[in-house]
Amino acid sequence: QKRYTITLLPGDGIGPEVISVAKEVLKLTGSLEGIEFGFQEMPVGGSALDLIGLPLPKETLSAAKQSDAVLLGAIGGYKWDNNEKHLKPETGLLQLREGLKVFANLRPASVLPQLVDASTLKKEIAEGVDLMVVRELTGGIYFGKPRGFSTNENGDEIGFNTEVYATYEIDRIARIAFETARKRCGKLCSVDKANVLEASMLWRKRVTAIASEYPDVELSHMYVDNAAMQLVRNPKQFDTIVTNNIFGDILSDEASMITGSIGMLPSASLGESGPGLFEPIHGSAPDIAGQDKANPLATVLSAAMLLRYGLGEENAAKRIEAAVLDALNRGFRTGDIHSAGNKLVGCKAMGDEVLKSVDSQIPAA
Ligand code: NAD
Ligand code: IPM
Ligand code: MN
Repeated sequence: QKRYTITLLPGDGIGPEVISVAKEVLKLTGSLEGIEFGFQEMPVGGSALDLIGLPLPKETLSAAKQSDAVLLGAIGGYKWDNNEKHLKPETGLLQLREGLKVFANLRPASVLPQLVDASTLKKEIAEGVDLMVVRELTGGIYFGKPRGFSTNENGDEIGFNTEVYATYEIDRIARIAFETARKRCGKLCSVDKANVLEASMLWRKRVTAIASEYPDVELSHMYVDNAAMQLVRNPKQFDTIVTNNIFGDILSDEASMITGSIGMLPSASLGESGPGLFEPIHGSAPDIAGQDKANPLATVLSAAMLLRYGLGEENAAKRIEAAVLDALNRGFRTGDIHSAGNKLVGCKAMGDEVLKSVDSQIPAA
């Protein structure tokens, strides 16, 4: 019997709703795969601000660091939107990523045959899309200094940020991306703004240099504005995309819509060592929070990534992924992926259907 400690960070809005589904799915999967999970739930984001006065209490970070993996729901909400920077829920999430040193964020986006009709793109464009966005997560404009507020020479208030990348940051994310591409279709597209930004010029230079270590991977470069256009024009041209923190944030939300809904897309954030952080790419969805409407599948699939990338439990990961497909095959859909002819269910009921499928799945070896 293997035992792992998982830190659960439900957070705000729909976060607690989707985490509670994922927790049950992990529990049942574990019991069928000979894995025991010890769950510790900790506050983060707005709920931590309300409880403790900080978006990332030190107890939360140290619990996360000491566990085998971390599963996060979502953070943020109107209530805290006008807080000062250091007291924003989002700051807590950034501190968590920085504290866990998880610089590599893997965001897969694939169009499931069951959900082709949920895509906003034409069937022939969406069908068969299977891409992986490798987003740099602990650098760039999110963390660069100097940053802040000031006044300019005209006495006008200014807000400023700095896009900055060091060679070692680019090299390590590039290697993760080349390794990822090598295991997939062997095609890597690096997305930047090297026609304008110095940080992108260095990015392109280093990614090109690292490419010599991976002669089997076909590398291309694309400017981010073109990439945003190409993603909706012909997404199948992409296999693995590597990009900086902010472009990766934006392009992964865009990619999610090709697959039908942001409520479907999971992510894994990994560092050189220590626990990984696993979270859906969506936010706290305050417009539907507390109404049992959220799609829990992005978080359930993040739990599968946790098993695969965080714990090396491939069979358990496959069991969860197969269960998600099975629940979809049986016609169950939350509102965000619903279309005529399917069975509309809420967050909890979707979770129950996945649980039924986990029970009956014999995962592919
Ligand atoms: P959002 O992702 O929360 O929501 C965007 C839209 O997608 C909304 O209409 C929402 O209802 C829908 N949606 C999102 N997840 C869904 C799900 N699982 N099922 C069904 N529909 C879903 O983005 P936003 O509205 O721009 O941001 C809301 C808050 O979330 C903000 O405070 C923001 O900072 C925060 N946020 C947090 C994270 C995170 O925790 N990782 C990510 C993005 C945004
Ligand atoms: C995400 C979110 C976060 C980000 C915010 C909430 C800090 O949009 O996880 O994609 O920008 O990274
Ligand atoms: Mn985002």
